[in-house]
Amino acid sequence: MSSLMRLKNAWIFVALILMFFLSFHLSDVLIENAEKDLEELIEDDTSPKALLTTTTTKIPTTTTLKGAKTPPKVTTKTTTTTTKKPKTTTVKGAKTPPKVTTKTTTTKKPEVVDPNACPLVSPLTKGDIKIDLLPSNKKDKWPPSEDELIKLMPQLSNNVGNIYKGPPKCNCRSKTAVIVPYRARTEHLKFFLFYTHQMLQRQQLCYVIFVVTQDDRETFNKGKLMNAGFVEAKKYGEFDCFIFHDVDLIAMNDKISYTCKDEQVVHYSFAMKQFDFKPLYLGYVGGALGFTKNQFETVNGFSNQYVGRGGEDDDMQRRIRFRQIKVWEPKESFVKYANIPHGKDIGYPQNKLATKLMEKATTRMDTDGLKSLSVKKVTMAKHKTYVEFLVKL
Ligand code: BGC
Repeated sequence: MSSLMRLKNAWIFVALILMFFLSFHLSDVLIENAEKDLEELIEDDTSPKALLTTTTTKIPTTTTLKGAKTPPKVTTKTTTTTTKKPKTTTVKGAKTPPKVTTKTTTTKKPEVVDPNACPLVSPLTKGDIKIDLLPSNKKDKWPPSEDELIKLMPQLSNNVGNIYKGPPKCNCRSKTAVIVPYRARTEHLKFFLFYTHQMLQRQQLCYVIFVVTQDDRETFNKGKLMNAGFVEAKKYGEFDCFIFHDVDLIAMNDKISYTCKDEQVVHYSFAMKQFDFKPLYLGYVGGALGFTKNQFETVNGFSNQYVGRGGEDDDMQRRIRFRQIKVWEPKESFVKYANIPHGKDIGYPQNKLATKLMEKATTRMDTDGLKSLSVKKVTMAKHKTYVEFLVKL
C-alpha cells in the first residue's frame, strides 16, 4: 500500500469516529429541544395568553362624496379572541378548566355627511307664529278648506303620494311621519293642517301627515289607532321619525323641530296653554311624542286596551321608562303649544279603568301592543293635503 493510500484510509477512519460522536450529540440536542417543546406546550395549556389572536382590520370607506367637506370616516373593526384550551387529561374528581372564549367586536358605522343636507336650523323658520283659533262661524273662509290650503301652498299638490319631499335646494334632514288619531273633529283638523303644514315646510323636512280615523261607532281607542297608524305609515314609506300628535294641539313657534333622536324619545308638547305652559305632572308624555322606528318597536307601541279618554299616554311613559329609554324635552322658552278648545266628545268618555290598567303596564307590555294589534279593516284615502287611514276596530 502506498503511503498516499494509507493516509487516505487514516482520514476516513477519523471522519467515521467524528461522525459517530456527532450523531450522539445531535440526538441529545434533539431530545433536549423536544423536551423543551413539550414543556412549552404544557405551559401553553395553562397560560392565559395561549392562542390569543388580535385582528385589527381597518376598512376605509369607499364612498367618496363629491364636494364633501368632511372626509369620510374610517370603519375600524377590532376582534380579540382568547381561547383557553382545556386539558385533555382528566383526573377523576378534578374540575375541568372552563373553556374561555372572549370576542370583542367594535364596529363604528361610517358617518356619511351629505354635502347637500339642509342646515340644522332652517333659515326659513320665523319663530313665534300668530295663531288664530277663532271658530268658523266668527270668520269667513276660516279655517281654510283643503282647496284653500292648496292655493296658499301650491307646492303641496306637486308631491307624489302626498310625501312632501322637502325644499328643492337641499336634502331634508328627516323624513317625518306625523300620526294623528282622529274622529269627527273637522274644524280642528283644518286648523291643524293649516298651521302644521306651514311649520314642517319651513323646517325643510320631508314629511307626511297621516290622519288615522276611527271608522266605527265604538268608544274611541287612541292607543290602537296610533299603533295602526304606525303599521300603515311604515308600509307607506320610509320614515326616520314617527310623531304621535293630538289634532287639537298647535305648535306656537315654528322652531320646535319635528325630528327624532336616536337615544331619546322626544316629548315636544310639555308646555301647553291649557296647563299654563307648565308640565302637567312629572313624567307626562301626552300631546305630541316622537319615536324612531326602533324606539317604538322596542316599547311594543301603545297599549291596545285603553278604551275611552286618558291613560294610554301614562301607560306609554311606563313602557319607555321600563325599557330605560330617556325622554327629552326641548326646554327652550319658545316651545309652547296652543289647544283648540272643544266641548265634550260623544264616543270618547273618561276611561274609568285607566288606573287599574296602568298598575300592570309593564307586566303587560310585551303581550299588549304593536305585536298583538288586530283591527277589522283599514282603508286608505289620499286627500290633497294628508293621507287618511280609516280603521274599523
Ligand atoms: C290622563 C292622561 C291625559 C292627561 C291630560 C291625565 O289624567 O291620564 O291620559 O293626557 O290627564 O288630559
